[in-house]
Amino acid sequence: MKLADEFLKSIDKRTSLIGIVGLGYVGLPLVREFCAAGFKVMGFDVDPKKVSMLKAGRTYIRHLPAKHFTKLIKQRLFTPTTDMKKLGKPDAVLICVPTPLDKMREPDVSYVVNTTVEIAKSLRKGQLIALESTTYPGTTREVMLPILEAGGLKVERDFFVAYSPEREDPGNPDFTTKDIPKVVGGLGPHSLKIATRLYDAVVCEAVPVSSCEAAEACKIVENVYRCVNIALVNELKMLFDRMGIDVWEVIKGANTKPFGFQAFYPGPGLGGHCIPIDPFYLSWKAREFGMPTRFIELAGEINTHMPEYVVQRVADALNTRGKPLKGSKILVLGLAYKRDVDDVRESPSVMLLEMLQERGGKVDYHDPYVPSGKPMREHNITHLRSVPLTPASLKKFDCVLISTDHTCVDYDMVCRHAKLVVDTRNAAGAKRRGKNVVKA
Ligand SMILES: NC(=O)c1ccc[n+]([C@@H]2O[C@H](COP(=O)([O-])OP(=O)(O)OC[C@H]3O[C@@H](n4cnc5c(N)ncnc54)[C@H](O)[C@@H]3O)[C@@H](O)[C@H]2O)c1
Repeated sequence: MKLADEFLKSIDKRTSLIGIVGLGYVGLPLVREFCAAGFKVMGFDVDPKKVSMLKAGRTYIRHLPAKHFTKLIKQRLFTPTTDMKKLGKPDAVLICVPTPLDKMREPDVSYVVNTTVEIAKSLRKGQLIALESTTYPGTTREVMLPILEAGGLKVERDFFVAYSPEREDPGNPDFTTKDIPKVVGGLGPHSLKIATRLYDAVVCEAVPVSSCEAAEACKIVENVYRCVNIALVNELKMLFDRMGIDVWEVIKGANTKPFGFQAFYPGPGLGGHCIPIDPFYLSWKAREFGMPTRFIELAGEINTHMPEYVVQRVADALNTRGKPLKGSKILVLGLAYKRDVDDVRESPSVMLLEMLQERGGKVDYHDPYVPSGKPMREHNITHLRSVPLTPASLKKFDCVLISTDHTCVDYDMVCRHAKLVVDTRNAAGAKRRGKNVVKA
């Protein structure tokens, strides 16, 4: 097929122009990799602040330094824009927009729909449209395709459609976008071949599968797997606490088995844009097939209970020191949802902060990467400011609750100077454990 052959040649020659829609935690690293592989990239985002920050040489994601993108912009390899009318220019348009849950905890694919509507307005022959956002199996074919074909062009004959899930792990120094194989599904053989060739040019390996649905399911399975296993160790943590056994020691011991065991670690609850959300995309879709997803529901129940459990542990720990939670000064240490990132989306720390306040605690937080509260969909924390973490400031608190284990924090210092430490991440470690340290 001539259109497909031309596309393949343009990939090999690096003359195809790439469009990346959604310049966030997933989209920006992808810009970097496509430019590194020799492609020119147009970046699209509806947020004018992000686009102007990029143009002004500033970053909004801590682990993605601005200078790299400034250089790409200067070399005219990367053009960020808010102008969706230009979506007809790129040969391949890759979509990396949010896929959250709505207030009823059902999939909110409105960002995917809005983006597809914008793309459809200027869709032209020969374009490849690839969705990267995490979503339920069927989204590409059932939600996107009708919008794209509404103008009269036909997939596989006039344009191409693929799904390739993003597996980015922000802040992980061992695996960057380039080092992570990419599963690819297409809405037909031409779409699959083009998308596979394109991703093969950029990441270590493109892994073709038989359909977009299979590729969509791969990503959801990866996240369900994590969600269920984290719930398991969270439940075991609560049991072992009662039995006087340290779950961290147990996991460390079990992990010496060279096969058949993969370590997952407990925490104060799930956070981030993926694990607390994506499994429920599948639960929702499963209802259409009359099938409950009991593992997912149970894991959700256990994981969402964790902040409550942690608050109770804080209350108990204060109680044994003759202090009620009400009126106690508590420092939540770490606001980001995981170590060494500045992302607070769905962070359990925010839940903990609010729950402790509701019970009368006087709560502050410290996070080296989140100097002030960021706007969040369901929480109002923009008035909060990170307080300093010094021996003197620590002494002012009745309890320090470690909810995120950023590696740059001096936990020895924290344990030496805090009156009481409740540690949900094993950050204080077995060696440093003093009488004032409680694991939770
Ligand atoms: N963050 C991760 O670690 C991660 C990892 C793997 C997969 N994912 C998935 O990737 C997708 C994107 O996640 P993210 O973390 O990059 O989100 P993000 O919020 O960091 O970035 C999304 C960007 O899309 C922009 N946007 C929203 N609607 C738009 C529209 N209609 N047109 C253009 N731009 C629009 C937003 O302004 C934002 O800059 C989600 O589906 C997520 O589940 C995320």
